Amino acid sequence: MRKKIVAGNWKMNLSLQDGLALVKALKSSLSDVKKSDVVVCPPFPYLVPIADILKGTRIGVGAQNMYFEDKGAFTGEVSAPILISVGTQYVIIGHSERRKYFGETNEIVNKKIKKAIVSKLIPIMCVGESLEQREKDETEAVITSQINEGLFELLAADVKKMIIAYEPIWAIGTGRTASPEQAVEVHKLIRSIVAQKFGKETAEQVRIQYGGSVKPDNAEILLQQPDIDGALVGGASLKADSFEAIVRAGELFS
Ligand code: PGA
Repeated sequence: MRKKIVAGNWKMNLSLQDGLALVKALKSSLSDVKKSDVVVCPPFPYLVPIADILKGTRIGVGAQNMYFEDKGAFTGEVSAPILISVGTQYVIIGHSERRKYFGETNEIVNKKIKKAIVSKLIPIMCVGESLEQREKDETEAVITSQINEGLFELLAADVKKMIIAYEPIWAIGTGRTASPEQAVEVHKLIRSIVAQKFGKETAEQVRIQYGGSVKPDNAEILLQQPDIDGALVGGASLKADSFEAIVRAGELFS
């Protein structure tokens, strides 16, 4: 069975003080979590103190983005080697907000995934359709090209280790969650595309999270689905008690 992985995407929220208080609370409340993986993805400036607080715990640290070059004149960007040097283990790539507001294409996402992998960061690659695309019956086509292009030229061994997050855009920050059936349908589609490209074994191993208004009250129903290997949590990751409740739901089914 695949181990569940619950990651908190703080986005552009919380002060340093509030972020550190949150991580300290999680460090103590989640100290008994053994079966599933837990990750927090704070804003860049907080990675150093948070990696420090979480050193020696089972809670991993992730960034919300990175650039695909190693170094150089790219003002405002952060590279994989920089992230590694501050103790980051995971990186969210291609979140729909980055695709929408910062022009990230599947090609850029693919370059970032490749760089993350060679740099030994675990990428969490986000895919998902908009409401308009879902209503026009384009979900399958959109997800298929996001997966095919995002994973272009990768090796099966690398895909096995990465995380894919299915985040329907219409469910992000809207309070409108995909039903377990809707989520499972797309998770199965993603797994079948991965199987075609990289083989069945890889498809069985790659972990696929669901994201989009995951809250304590819907976490269990989502995470008990064998095809849903975890959650990428936005709003509900900003409070220790709600994030803890979601992690505990994952722990039940890990
Ligand atoms: P949400 O965000 O949980 O606030 O809907 C999820 C995400 O965008 O990763």
